[in-house]
Amino acid sequence: MAIIINEQEKTFTLQTNNTAYQMKVNPYGVLLHTYYGKKVPYEDMSYIVDNDMNPNHVVENPKIKGDDVYCAIERLPQEISCYGCGDYRESAINIRNADGSLGLQLVYHSARVEEGKYSIPSLPAFYGKEGETLVITLKDKVYDIYLHLYYGVLAEYDLICRYVKIENKTKNPITVEKALSVTLDLEYGNYDMVSFYGKWAQERLLQRNEIMHGKSQVFSTRGTSGHTMNPFAIICDKSATETQGSAYGLALVYSGSFLISSSKCYYDSTRVVAGINPENFCYVLQPDECFHTPEVAMVYSDEGFGKMSRCFHKAIRNNLCRGKYKNARRPVLINNWEGTYFDFNADKLVAIAEEAAKLGVELFVMDDGWFGRRVNDWGGLGDWSPNEEKLGCTLKELSERINAAGLQFGIWFEPECVNEDSALYEEHPDYAFRMPGRTPALARHQLVLDFSRKDVRENIYQQLKKVLDSANISYVKWDYNRFICDLYSATAGAENQGRVLHEFILGLYELLERLTTEYPDVLFESCASGGGRFDCGMHYYMPQAWTSDDTDAIERIKIQYGTSFCYPVSTMGAHVSTVPNHQTARVTPLSTRGLVASFGTYGLELDLTKASEEEKEEIKRQIAQFKQHYDLIQYGEYYRLISPFDPYSNFCVWSTVASDQSEALVACVRNRNPGNPSPEIVKLFGLDPNKRYTVNGGERKYLGSTLMQNGLRIFVPFGEYTSCLYHVVAAE
Ligand code: DGJ
Repeated sequence: MAIIINEQEKTFTLQTNNTAYQMKVNPYGVLLHTYYGKKVPYEDMSYIVDNDMNPNHVVENPKIKGDDVYCAIERLPQEISCYGCGDYRESAINIRNADGSLGLQLVYHSARVEEGKYSIPSLPAFYGKEGETLVITLKDKVYDIYLHLYYGVLAEYDLICRYVKIENKTKNPITVEKALSVTLDLEYGNYDMVSFYGKWAQERLLQRNEIMHGKSQVFSTRGTSGHTMNPFAIICDKSATETQGSAYGLALVYSGSFLISSSKCYYDSTRVVAGINPENFCYVLQPDECFHTPEVAMVYSDEGFGKMSRCFHKAIRNNLCRGKYKNARRPVLINNWEGTYFDFNADKLVAIAEEAAKLGVELFVMDDGWFGRRVNDWGGLGDWSPNEEKLGCTLKELSERINAAGLQFGIWFEPECVNEDSALYEEHPDYAFRMPGRTPALARHQLVLDFSRKDVRENIYQQLKKVLDSANISYVKWDYNRFICDLYSATAGAENQGRVLHEFILGLYELLERLTTEYPDVLFESCASGGGRFDCGMHYYMPQAWTSDDTDAIERIKIQYGTSFCYPVSTMGAHVSTVPNHQTARVTPLSTRGLVASFGTYGLELDLTKASEEEKEEIKRQIAQFKQHYDLIQYGEYYRLISPFDPYSNFCVWSTVASDQSEALVACVRNRNPGNPSPEIVKLFGLDPNKRYTVNGGERKYLGSTLMQNGLRIFVPFGEYTSCLYHVVAAE
């Protein structure tokens, strides 16, 4: 039983394998948050809270109770925070009532337990029949406005998911001005917030800040999760490390504008809220209508970041990603983007595919430039019909030639965008977001289509379907290369413009659901100018995402390192490209490029017809090695051993360990290269301390405990940006 309801003590306790989460209804009906941490036997944890404090009474001296001007609710750890009735800390939910007042006074109404983990209408969410759901309903003291707080528990992964359903049972419309999914009040302690910031070609770089009085926030207002901050953050002890200390991970299962905000409050408690960014959000809720917030998935670890990440990895792989390729072996692909950019025809692509087939590549992906008026990035988006003149044949013929070369065939789309220079835009200029009377801002010469509109989605759906049905297509790369501005939907009406940004995302999800259901054998990979929409929302539809347009191995180790805090290796699209690298001009050994790409969904992105025989031999070896270790890499337990940002090391080191501890891979990349370096030794993690292991087939058999306590000596070839891989195998 993952959910314990104690009627007498009015507590609700969620238990996972290693964690517990508790709420309690106080004598005044307020739902308090009383515990989130390591699993302990059931007890009422509210003794540390002044739980019989009347929210309407004095707080300046909490011992003195009586009617007074101050509100006590601000002194109590809230399970969901609402603006307006005395909690001055950051709110999660702001409701403007029909009378124009802003605020709710929520009291406990009822609770129920459901079998299985809940799903959310029209939104992605972790799933699992083996899970359990608790629904706690709160009601406003005055109006018939209900908040249904959903808790889904996947005990095996220490995953607790939350979302809120707001229900208007009044006779009048109300306005939801803020609809975040989570309030997490931590009653005491000093915390840091770890988050992942960046920009194009530098996504998900780690930063760590102390949570101070005032707010620390990560957010997007771009209509998409974006490159600049990822919708994932960790709240941790000041002393937390990879292996020690408390860490609360919060991952939003949402791909739109978001907010994760933390602050230290005036009695030194910490509040975290997370959900849809309230900026440009305003949702009029009609009588009997419900609004569903997106989900936030939380993992608590008492053993630092590493354990938290491994829980997220397993949960995302097994209970968020769906479809045939969730666990099936994915094909090794070659993509032509960096190899040819827009300059290709069918003959050129087939020549690359033929070379690729000889090396063990299994899928050829034709990237941008095959359709409509697309000769460069000024035109064509929106017209999804093959440019047969450019290709020199039909799409069907091209796919057949690629298949004949022994490869599956995949294709690139950017369905949410349109160029002004396109037939679609000429016919339907109102399909794009643009404000009345203003010239819209272009980005990469393109506009965003109004996917909040059904007719716009239908048009694109029909076009994509025609292409997908016209040839033997096994893979789709779903790209998205700009953010939303000039937000205005031509059909929403003035009063509903505040819904559009969210409904754009709902529209995207609806189209993805439709296509992934109708084409279950197609592998979908998400992309947004590299890793600009790398989030749990997209992973519900597509099991992998292009991690970054930066394919430089040394930059990639930082990007993949940051990404790994939440997302598993199996979600990270990673390719070997040519040197000098197109983003950095850096020259790195091919072996290092291969090793780094191997700890993702290894693929190639270069013109193989220009590769030397020696390079092709090396790529062939890498592909064989990747296939040999596929399960260990994709499904193993991931350990970050030395950070690429560690100023005391010349290496970045990580490992993956089989769940039965029978083998491990340890990857080491030299990212700094001083003369006369000190010896490098790394302590391994996750091995069986009592088993003996060989290293790269050597004679010596080390005890697991030895490799974990005394470490492994790293020998990396002399030279710049060199690397090595150790295969550690149980010998007995
Ligand atoms: C951005 C993507 O990240 C690239 O991989 C490539 O597909 C281009 N778009 C094509 O325009």
